[in-house]
Amino acid sequence: MYIYSWIFVEFPGVVHVVQSRQGKLHTTRSWDFLGLDYYRQTEILTNSKLGSDVIIGVVDSGIWPESKSFNDDGYGPIPLRWKGTCEHGDEFNASHCNRKIIGARWYANGLTEEDTKGDYLSPRDVNGHGTHTASTAAGSLVQNVSFGGLGIGAARGGAPRARLAIYKVLWGEKTLTSSATVLAAVDDAIHDGVDVLSLSLGFDFFDFSIGYLHAVAKGITVVFAGGNDGPRPQSITNVAPWVITVAASTIDRSFPATITLGNNRSLVGQPQIGSLRLGNEFRGLYTDPDSPSCALGTLNATMVKGKVVLCFMGNNPSPDLQFQRAVLSVQRAGGFGLIFSQYTTNSRIPCGNISCILVDYEVGIKILYYIGTTSSPIVKISAATTVVGATVVSPRPDIAAPGVNILAAWKSFYDFASGTSMATPHIAGIVALIKASHPTWSPSAIKSAIVTTASVTDEYGLPITAEGAPRKLADPFDYGGGHVNPNKALDPGLVYDIDAADYFKFHCYTGFIGGTPTIEICDSKQGSLLDLNLPSISIPNLRTTAVVWRTVNNIGEADATYKAIIEPPPGVKMEVEPQVIIFNSTVTKHSFKVTFSTYLRVQGDYTFGSLTWVDGKHSVRIPIAVRTTIQESYADISL
Ligand SMILES: *[C@@H]1O[C@H](CO)[C@@H](O)[C@H](O)[C@H]1NC(C)=O
Ligand SMILES: *[C@@H]1O[C@H](CO)[C@@H](O)[C@H](O)[C@H]1NC(C)=O
Ligand SMILES: *[C@@H]1O[C@H](CO)[C@@H](O)[C@H](O)[C@H]1NC(C)=O
Ligand SMILES: *[C@@H]1O[C@H](CO)[C@@H](O)[C@H](O)[C@H]1NC(C)=O
Ligand SMILES: *[C@@H]1O[C@H](CO)[C@@H](O)[C@H](O)[C@H]1NC(C)=O
Ligand SMILES: *[C@@H]1O[C@H](CO)[C@@H](O)[C@H](O)[C@H]1NC(C)=O
Repeated sequence: MYIYSWIFVEFPGVVHVVQSRQGKLHTTRSWDFLGLDYYRQTEILTNSKLGSDVIIGVVDSGIWPESKSFNDDGYGPIPLRWKGTCEHGDEFNASHCNRKIIGARWYANGLTEEDTKGDYLSPRDVNGHGTHTASTAAGSLVQNVSFGGLGIGAARGGAPRARLAIYKVLWGEKTLTSSATVLAAVDDAIHDGVDVLSLSLGFDFFDFSIGYLHAVAKGITVVFAGGNDGPRPQSITNVAPWVITVAASTIDRSFPATITLGNNRSLVGQPQIGSLRLGNEFRGLYTDPDSPSCALGTLNATMVKGKVVLCFMGNNPSPDLQFQRAVLSVQRAGGFGLIFSQYTTNSRIPCGNISCILVDYEVGIKILYYIGTTSSPIVKISAATTVVGATVVSPRPDIAAPGVNILAAWKSFYDFASGTSMATPHIAGIVALIKASHPTWSPSAIKSAIVTTASVTDEYGLPITAEGAPRKLADPFDYGGGHVNPNKALDPGLVYDIDAADYFKFHCYTGFIGGTPTIEICDSKQGSLLDLNLPSISIPNLRTTAVVWRTVNNIGEADATYKAIIEPPPGVKMEVEPQVIIFNSTVTKHSFKVTFSTYLRVQGDYTFGSLTWVDGKHSVRIPIAVRTTIQESYADISL
């Protein structure tokens, strides 16, 4: 029943070694940063016994079992409910599984010899990515780890005693896979008995997200990377509401540059190494509509000479390579500079004798839009110290976790890697800890706990700036609920729970599956999509008034009184009814109504607010995003 169509996955595991710079968080420390100090353990680590006996399924490029991170010293027997297996193959047999790596499978059906060249036909990880994510989620404690002396410290996973089940689906250097392969692995993982699934991979389309719903319906929490996609406005993949979608955050500071367009609009980008000739003066701006990625040999020197050229990353699985090609292309055509629009990465690539600046995909779209409005577009690039230009994409990730320069196991060594790939196993590890402490919580309750307790300010109480190379003030489209706070997630007070049946309703309602939704899973009483009980509210088209319902369950002390604190999105009136909800031993659940009405008379961008229920002990916050629309036909950024 599977159709194997091998495609390039947008695989965000760009690996690079970074220079040690002051102020950078090396992620032997990322767990300390999150408040999970191994040596001064808080409740979440002690309650969960470091996640012991929770099984995390890692669907990735396999495993390097010899890494010290998978040492099983002191582990108890494998949980009896485990039904998985340790498959053998090239340089991998049952002796490579242990009480830490309790299962390992590989999926190479439909691959050609060319696809798997240089890879092991077995669960063994030639790429290193899978080893990195697995050790980030659940690596055992390893002392004195560093990469060439950088980031020295003890390495460990978020749930250092959790068990690992490995599903190898990414092959070769190109990390090829297909949605069918991933789904086959997920099916096996459900059957094998995993508790949490961590997938640091992303597809460019949604047509298979129903497969993950089956996992969630079985009580498995699915944590997915908010992929790093190519040129289209909706650059977050894996947005099915039943999975937890993770954004990569960073505390690494960068030095943004301001891009000023001829219409005086300012945007932010990240200048690249060697780009010192920024100029601070207006220059011609050009993009080739026939070759947006500026492929080699396509640019017309007459048009490009002395100008700044806007190029888009495209769907190339190797963004760095495509960037280098764009640089060459612009250089050869005699361009002055390059604005390269791409997904979030922290790549630092030299760019020859031209000036290069990396921008978020949405920023690129705004520049493109500007080019379309004038016959002689111009641009000025200048160094900036302030961060400007909030932009949005929709849909959004649910949560952010450290994802930049994460030091973890890489084959038998330790290395840095960046991207949502690395943030995802952080959340998977935290989910494992929560699950070990609260085995009965549903995947949606766990997701709610993580989202509603997240922090929207950084460790200094300042607003979070957006992740990745181009800086901007972050908004919920960047970080979802905020930055994960595992200790608080253990005791959220209230949860926005969702029955798996409601997800199926949503699935049917939206026709997520691509073709016609299957009739049996549809509910005749389909509700409004807005009313799916998510720990967030997003209204993409507010014309006049919208009413949204939510329900919260009290999982804290039985007697509790919560009061609503609202922070309406600018330009929007927001009312909550009732404003106070009282729980006791018989009343454990309350529904409430949120009414939005817009003051804005113009077509707006998204604006953001929040709704927080507080009882003096807990603060249960959900993010709110509202976009006012007057006319469907005009939109500022949606294309
Ligand atoms: C499994 O692999 C190990 C290490 O490569 C080797 O020593 C051992 O003999 C193998 N066992 C079997 C049953 O092939
Ligand atoms: C840590 O590793 C370094 C470099 O390998 C070594 O010189 C040092 O003695 C080690 N320290 C400990 C405490 O093991
Ligand atoms: C941009 O700002 C400059 C300086 O404030 C002003 O002189 C110019 O007219 C503005 N251009 C546009 C298109 O608004
Ligand atoms: C390059 O652009 C110029 C100016 O628009 C045009 O005259 C010329 O034909 C173009 N060259 C090619 C090879 O398309
Ligand atoms: C940059 O280098 C390329 C090729 O090496 C050359 O053709 C081009 O003229 C140079 N551009 C500048 C601005 O120096
Ligand atoms: C809980 O509150 C409800 C509604 O106020 C009330 O009817 C009920 O008697 C209360 N139950 C207890 C055990 O206090």
